[in-house]
Amino acid sequence: MSVDNDRVATGIAGLDAILGGGVFEGGIYIIQGAPGAGKTILGNQICFAQAAQGRNALYITLLAESHARMIGHMRRLKFFDENVIPDRMSYVGAFKTLEDDGLRGLLDVVRREVRTRKANILVLDGLITVHEKARTELELKKFIHELQTQAGFSNCTMFLLTSAFDADAHPPEHTMVDGLIELQASLHGRRSERSIQIHKLRGGWFMGGKHAYRITDTGHAIFPRTEALLETPSIWDSADGPMVPTGIPGLDKMFGGGIDTHSVTVVLGPSGSGKTTTSLQFLTGGPAGEPALFFGFHENPMALRVKAKSLKLPLTDNIDLMWRPQTEAVLDEVATDLLGTIRRNGVRRLVIDGIEYDTGNSRDRSCGYDTGAAAQRYQPNWSFRRRRKYHRAAACSTSFGKSSIDDDPQISRPPNGHEDASF
Ligand SMILES: Nc1ncnc2c1ncn2[C@@H]1O[C@H](COP(=O)(O)OP(=O)(O)OP(=O)(O)O)[C@@H](O)[C@H]1O
Ligand SMILES: [Mg+2]
Repeated sequence: MSVDNDRVATGIAGLDAILGGGVFEGGIYIIQGAPGAGKTILGNQICFAQAAQGRNALYITLLAESHARMIGHMRRLKFFDENVIPDRMSYVGAFKTLEDDGLRGLLDVVRREVRTRKANILVLDGLITVHEKARTELELKKFIHELQTQAGFSNCTMFLLTSAFDADAHPPEHTMVDGLIELQASLHGRRSERSIQIHKLRGGWFMGGKHAYRITDTGHAIFPRTEALLETPSIWDSADGPMVPTGIPGLDKMFGGGIDTHSVTVVLGPSGSGKTTTSLQFLTGGPAGEPALFFGFHENPMALRVKAKSLKLPLTDNIDLMWRPQTEAVLDEVATDLLGTIRRNGVRRLVIDGIEYDTGNSRDRSCGYDTGAAAQRYQPNWSFRRRRKYHRAAACSTSFGKSSIDDDPQISRPPNGHEDASF
């Protein structure tokens, strides 16, 4: 990926990541999506992000929906900032102009407003209304061409928002504009998931494919596909450095001293075989104060603390517990949270509990191991656990054959208090 100096960051981190840094100054971009996909929110969010950076944003609506109503909705979102209106962010309604004076009248409004407000960014919300108003395809093409001329002439980057047309049709403006961004929603079973896809970005690299997004009261949160985001390693994976104790002395003996630094270990076993217990021993078995993280989809922190207490394994403050419910989570959002915590806390020991976890959209993705491989670049020691239906219970395969492992290290602990009892 090359970095282009003439890119304009939209100010929405996830969007800029998939755009390869942003859009191009003076370019004209379509944001397309079905009603309710979040186009108006995205358009406003881009404008307020620009205004926050001291640039001038202009939002022209072609909607029957009144200005007051739309602004009322936006006011509920956290990015909305009254203080930048009208100096750096201004709203103009042009529905009536389009009704009365047609496409020519609308172009006059755009030209006048961009010039007088010295707009760096323009959002035109309701391109479908222009479509409906254009008498011929040629008239529509001329309209887009005029907009392009204005965008280039005034160095004003333009976003045209429109509801989805026939997905198989290729409206003429799609070939004319510099970029096409689509917002979609799809069902996975009964669960609905939103995704964003860049179809085209003239002049630069972008991250292809679909990327999940959510709309919350902070606006759009976009999660680039983790395996695409971390495709090129910043550090090559290598299991090196000194051996790391697993927290289970018997297991360390079998491994010849412990597991490798920067290594990934999969712990397999059916329900009740002791995977969580092994994980807790690993997390509590490091040097005092070493940052560690338990990230799971099954047992919540409270249940884990109870379990750790009964096992007399102290979950000290350096051991962070993160839990995500399996129901509505978005895989890449989960990965973003996980990687963020690893970076922030400088995690050196990590357990992911439930690597078989599967969101609806992950069936075409080797999610667990890819996420692990990517996160390994941040150099924690990893322990992966995966549940399997078949029984390889209570068995660890080593080059020395199989060794037995007791289900409960507490019970198997010898009376002298030595922990080295299970193997
Ligand atoms: N605070 C919020 N939390 C979660 N979702 C929200 C929030 N506010 C709005 N939404 C979602 O955003 C959607 C509306 O977004 P928006 O008005 O930008 O859509 P749109 O694509 O412009 O639709 P239209 O084509 O009808 O104009 C709604 O479907 C709603 O689900
Ligand atoms: Mg809208």
